[in-house]
Amino acid sequence: MNFLSREQIEKHLTTDILGRSQIEVWESIDSTNTRAASLAAEGAPEGLVAVARQQTAGRGRLGRVWMSPMDAGVYMSVLLRPQQIALSDIAPMTLACGVAVSRAVEKVAGVRLELKWVNDLVHNGRKLGGILAEMPSNPGNSRALVIGFGLNVRIEHCAVPDELVDKLDWLERLSGAEIDVNHLAAEVLFEVEKAYDHIKNKKIETLLAEWRIRSATLGKEVVATSGTQSITGRAVDIDETGALLVATKDGKTEIIHAGEVTIRTPEGKYI
Ligand code: BTN
Repeated sequence: MNFLSREQIEKHLTTDILGRSQIEVWESIDSTNTRAASLAAEGAPEGLVAVARQQTAGRGRLGRVWMSPMDAGVYMSVLLRPQQIALSDIAPMTLACGVAVSRAVEKVAGVRLELKWVNDLVHNGRKLGGILAEMPSNPGNSRALVIGFGLNVRIEHCAVPDELVDKLDWLERLSGAEIDVNHLAAEVLFEVEKAYDHIKNKKIETLLAEWRIRSATLGKEVVATSGTQSITGRAVDIDETGALLVATKDGKTEIIHAGEVTIRTPEGKYI
């Protein structure tokens, strides 16, 4: 079984910026997003990458825990410093990163994942990966954006909580072969850098078009929950900011900027 190492990631690296100034690979750390944010506060440059073989306090969206057992996945964060870009143009970066990661997974593992709004990587309704984008409260010398990637590669020997057993999946099970995690990490960095270039050059439309094709959400009956508010309807599209458009029964189109979506299956279950 292969495991994450700086030397091996660098061997596969084809980026111009991401991972070129600094790549840290930790055997164990609380959270690579927390680590990248604290390096940002110290003035670390764009392109810094923090990777871990295990996280003891991996974080997901909406305050959730991201299960991160030793050598069971890729846990990786990148630091971007998007200076000349309007905040509204940065907004779709999470969706763009979803496309980037699914391209990388397809290339390295031969598995085609779907994207569930806003940031879940899924296969047949089961989650394999997620993306956590955060703007650190102390960005250091200039604006900072930390984007964290979590991908389940091999979790068959891990203690998965009962309530998650039917909801998770992992790449080696789907591909039926061993996956080179260092190649995967390097390929994610390459695709994320390409997506970031598209955002910087205001060419987001091509990425959004690809998101639509890879989407597990569009065309489905959904319940979108944000705080205490819940909207039921059909997910019809995303807009240029990455927001989800939901057509409700009373003929309105609601624009969902944040929160969570559950999808109705043909059997009437919500996943
Ligand atoms: C989600 O689906 O809720 C987002 C999960 C993001 C997990 C990754 S693992 C690397 C980075 N460090 C963290 O603490 N979280 C992200």
